[in-house]
Amino acid sequence: MSQYIVQTARYEHLQLADEICRHMEESAKARGTGIAKRSPDYIKQKMVEGKAVVATTADGKFVGFCYIESWGHGKFVANSGLIVHPDHRKSGIAKEIKQKIFDLTRKKYPAAKIFGITTSLAVMRINSALGYKPVTFSELTDDDNFWKGCASCTNYDVLTRTNRKMCLCTGMLYDPVEEEKPNKKKPWDVAKQSKLYERWLRFKNHVLFKKDKPADEGDAGQPKEKESEKVLVYSILAVALGCAIYLAA
Ligand SMILES: CC(C)(COP(=O)(O)OP(=O)(O)OC[C@H]1O[C@@H](n2cnc3c(N)ncnc32)[C@H](O)[C@@H]1OP(=O)(O)O)[C@@H](O)C(=O)NCCC(=O)NCCS
Repeated sequence: MSQYIVQTARYEHLQLADEICRHMEESAKARGTGIAKRSPDYIKQKMVEGKAVVATTADGKFVGFCYIESWGHGKFVANSGLIVHPDHRKSGIAKEIKQKIFDLTRKKYPAAKIFGITTSLAVMRINSALGYKPVTFSELTDDDNFWKGCASCTNYDVLTRTNRKMCLCTGMLYDPVEEEKPNKKKPWDVAKQSKLYERWLRFKNHVLFKKDKPADEGDAGQPKEKESEKVLVYSILAVALGCAIYLAA
């Protein structure tokens, strides 16, 4: 039996909001990314609305957290802000939290597509076990408010200069309609294909972060053709990777 209590957040958890925000900020710093800044008040609001899951020790100490956000008038829902206290990582607690928030989301928004964008292999493993599939960003919500949340990420320039077509994050989607089909596709086995994925991520880094030469090296002005070449090469390879994963499954 789990040593943790994982439950929909209640009033008694409001006092954990400051600590949750602190862990979110510290982990973003450690990963060298930015995050959509969440205030303790925002976290509290999610708890009050019954849209958050908290994990604690038996004596009420903070272990982990995640909450629900809805986009595009409820057509899309994201399970955001997943965080596990460093002392409790790699014990399966994120998996428990994500399962709980997934079940809560399905109950509250049964028709919504559930999605996420992430660079975390751990999150990809958890999502794929829940039935999420990797998709291109065009299959995710086009709600500007969602994408504005990326503005504080250090990679935001990649997202903007590719017109939101790609970034370092991988988009993953759970589509309830697809899942209900009798001949639905097999889940993406990230664990089995993690080597392939890690290579893909390195490649993505290479293509998207290969800095244009500085002006004094004669490559000023970031030629548009170069950008579209990158997008084209990336798109072809994305399709190739999709086929490889599909065939390997
Ligand atoms: C990502 C995070 C939530 C994972 O929490 P966790 O409790 O350690 O995860 P779990 O123990 O439930 O592990 C879930 C799966 O991920 C794998 N995993 C865990 N940490 C991993 C890592 N650093 N690299 C690769 N895989 C990892 C586990 O082996 C497990 O895989 P399995 O289901 O195939 O066995 C936690 O490390 C964290 O809070 N990180 C900082 C915040 C963050 O990155 N949030 C995600 C933003 S999208």
